[in-house]
Amino acid sequence: MARPLIERFRDRLPVSDATPIISLGEGSTPLVPARRLSAALGVEILLKLEGANPTGSFKDRGMTVALSKAAEDGAHTVICASTGNTSASAAAYAARAGIRCVVVVPAGKIALGKLAQAQVAGAVVIAIRGSFDDGLRLVRAICERHPITLVNNLNPYRLEGQKTAAFEIVEELGAAPDWLALPVGNGGNITAYWRGFCEVDAYAHVLGCQAEGAASMVRGADVAAPETIATAIRIGAPVRRVEAALAASESGGGFVAVPDEEILSWYARLAAEEGVFCEPSSATSVAGLARAVRDGRVAAGSRVVCVLTGHGLKDPETALASSQAVAEVAADLDALESALAL
Ligand code: F0G
Repeated sequence: MARPLIERFRDRLPVSDATPIISLGEGSTPLVPARRLSAALGVEILLKLEGANPTGSFKDRGMTVALSKAAEDGAHTVICASTGNTSASAAAYAARAGIRCVVVVPAGKIALGKLAQAQVAGAVVIAIRGSFDDGLRLVRAICERHPITLVNNLNPYRLEGQKTAAFEIVEELGAAPDWLALPVGNGGNITAYWRGFCEVDAYAHVLGCQAEGAASMVRGADVAAPETIATAIRIGAPVRRVEAALAASESGGGFVAVPDEEILSWYARLAAEEGVFCEPSSATSVAGLARAVRDGRVAAGSRVVCVLTGHGLKDPETALASSQAVAEVAADLDALESALAL
């Protein structure tokens, strides 16, 4: 197993010898140069592949700390609202800890792989006829009434774990990149990265990238009915709005909104030109960077880390819907040759 994130960064995390470490070998994810996309945009792009975490998203960084602390505190049940990845991660780490897990997801608006992960890990999965924002409101109310631990990013241990991605980038590059681009939903991850950079005194400008239909930070106001193909960031009322805004302003960065067509276009290019299959929400970081380069906000030649927050296998439906149909032929050589135009 890869060295647990809590072991690697123990001196910077709120754990003690009394904390049982609930780990699946998270963190230490690859930072991969994107040669073709760099040439296309005129900047140096490095991709932080957070889909390489055990449950396929960056959420594992926070969940290892949240579930370790929950286990230390003797929690018997954890709960979260989720657009999918948090639920998959919470379900897996809770299973590992032997703690009951309840997840509340927006009905019909969660990618298939994420739902499968939560289900197979034995979480209690409840789909509500409402949005993620409704779900979060409900689980917060449940935690006020019952002794259940919330593992959404309001849980302070989540962001502590997530900040370690910034440590890894600075360690690997020997300095912060000029810019860090990442998708923003609730604003937790952007807050965590900025905290991480500040803790090691290495500062990147942080670019928060949102889908146009859920661009609450760009608009400076909540979005009542968020809508986007990037279901992971289909969030209208970011709970970390204030901290996320600070991360962008203190770092000299900002926010950018991109339409779904641009998200899908960069999603396809990442896979076809770089061999990197991420989920649509994750491609928002590259789509947002492309806009910021075009606007002149990010200067030519800058070194930029784009965080690809989740794995492409999370959402096979979008992958298939945005690809050509598979050609089906008879099982003989002639048919195969003619299908291949040989
Ligand atoms: N990218 C992916 C793949 C996500 O799943 C999320 C959030 C984000 C980016 C945005 O991160 O909320 O910290 O700004 N997913 C949450 C979930 C909401 O329930 O899985 P954020």
